[in-house]
Amino acid sequence: MKRDEIPDSLKSVTEPGALSGEILIRQASLDDIRLIQDMARIIWADTYAGYISEEDQSRVLEHSYSQASLKKSIEDDIFLLAEISGEAAGYIDMGRQDEVLHLHRLYVMSKFQRLGTGRRLLDEAIAVAKRCSGDGFPSPAEKGSIPKVVVATVEEGNQKARRFYRKMGFAEEGSTTMTIQGVKMPLIYIVMRLS
Ligand SMILES: CC(C)(COP(=O)(O)OP(=O)(O)OC[C@H]1O[C@@H](n2cnc3c(N)ncnc32)[C@H](O)[C@@H]1OP(=O)(O)O)[C@@H](O)C(=O)NCCC(=O)NCCS
Repeated sequence: MKRDEIPDSLKSVTEPGALSGEILIRQASLDDIRLIQDMARIIWADTYAGYISEEDQSRVLEHSYSQASLKKSIEDDIFLLAEISGEAAGYIDMGRQDEVLHLHRLYVMSKFQRLGTGRRLLDEAIAVAKRCSGDGFPSPAEKGSIPKVVVATVEEGNQKARRFYRKMGFAEEGSTTMTIQGVKMPLIYIVMRLS
């Protein structure tokens, strides 16, 4: 989404300098693609060391974090960045389909984990989704388009993230295996119903 298309309802989280506590949450722009790719490489290496090889991580990242893939996500989804004291701290990418929010990516740099960054990103993205309707963005939320549920998948072996999601109110509801670029990833479906 271009900055001049951002609705007033989103301004509170998109304007530079919009601070809440110590964490700045802002809308990602196409200029942030390189930054997001760099963060992803670092966080993936920390998170998946031991069970996704470096080679497989690179293959998946090249595909899932390509320029084209991130451009589409930034333009179509709610894509927010967190900054702490001017430093990039993490990001969230949440898509929307009618009443369902699809949490595609939520990643926080290890030095900023356990400080409330993940919770803030998740809360803000849900708040933005509640304020704005999907395709009609930036029109006000319409009756029937209020999001009712957040769905995501989490790597089966990623116990830290599974604990975080349980704390956030997600329930684990089944499992699957996804193959990305030949890399098999056992995943757990997680669901959070919104009030
Ligand atoms: C999972 C992740 C997004 C959580 O973000 P975070 O900023 O560390 O989490 P927060 O500080 O906002 O924590 C929110 C709550 O979850 C709890 N929590 C977070 N990580 C936890 C863990 N490893 N174990 C137990 N509880 C945890 C916190 O204690 C906190 O609860 P509280 O508010 O009652 O104290 C972050 O750790 C991360 O990016 N990990 C690596 C990448 C990843 O796995 N992403 C998810 C891919 S599906």
